[in-house]
Amino acid sequence: MAGATTVAVTIEGTDSGDFVLRPMTLDDVDIRIDYFHNASDEFLHRMGVGRDLLPNPAVWKEQHRAEFARPVEDRSSYGVMWEYRGVVVGWSTADHFDPGVSAFMHLHVIESENRSRGLGVRFVKLTADHLFDRLDIVKLFSEPNALNVAPNRSQWGIT
Ligand SMILES: CC(C)(COP(=O)(O)OP(=O)(O)OC[C@H]1O[C@@H](n2cnc3c(N)ncnc32)[C@H](O)[C@@H]1OP(=O)(O)O)[C@@H](O)C(=O)NCCC(=O)NCCS
Repeated sequence: MAGATTVAVTIEGTDSGDFVLRPMTLDDVDIRIDYFHNASDEFLHRMGVGRDLLPNPAVWKEQHRAEFARPVEDRSSYGVMWEYRGVVVGWSTADHFDPGVSAFMHLHVIESENRSRGLGVRFVKLTADHLFDRLDIVKLFSEPNALNVAPNRSQWGIT
């Protein structure tokens, strides 16, 4: 699918300019769809995602197209992409949002080789700041599966 190419990166340096967050576009959606549909059963289970609940890829893309045509406050979810030195390395989606009040956040580093190397902690802070501002919320919730250690620990660093 177009837009679905991602790579493992060498993370060296912590210049804030290296870590860029931007809103998800329709072209980015293929990355999200491929990520879930290409995932192993074990990986989906760890995240608490049922494969049988994943929409068909083409249907899911059209659902996203309809979503992107609506104002952010009228969407069922809002996404941001995480770029390290110009390479997309992950993304976050917020859903169940109540504009002006609260939202729930989900985090994903795309390539397994890029996980556990500090990207999550770095981007979760940028994401939280962005979502508070963009969705005009005062509370941000994240409820990773209790047995999924990395996302739970990624959020302990938020102050
Ligand atoms: C969750 C995720 C975004 C975190 O990003 P990351 O770049 O891997 O996380 P970091 O390297 O910044 O590490 C964050 C914390 O988790 C810990 N951690 C990372 N991977 C871990 C693992 N596999 N097991 C245990 N702890 C882990 C790190 O030690 C760090 O804790 P510390 O700050 O106390 O040292 C990433 O691991 C991921 O995409 N996982 C798969 C998708 C997923 O489970 N998403 C959550 C669904 S909501």
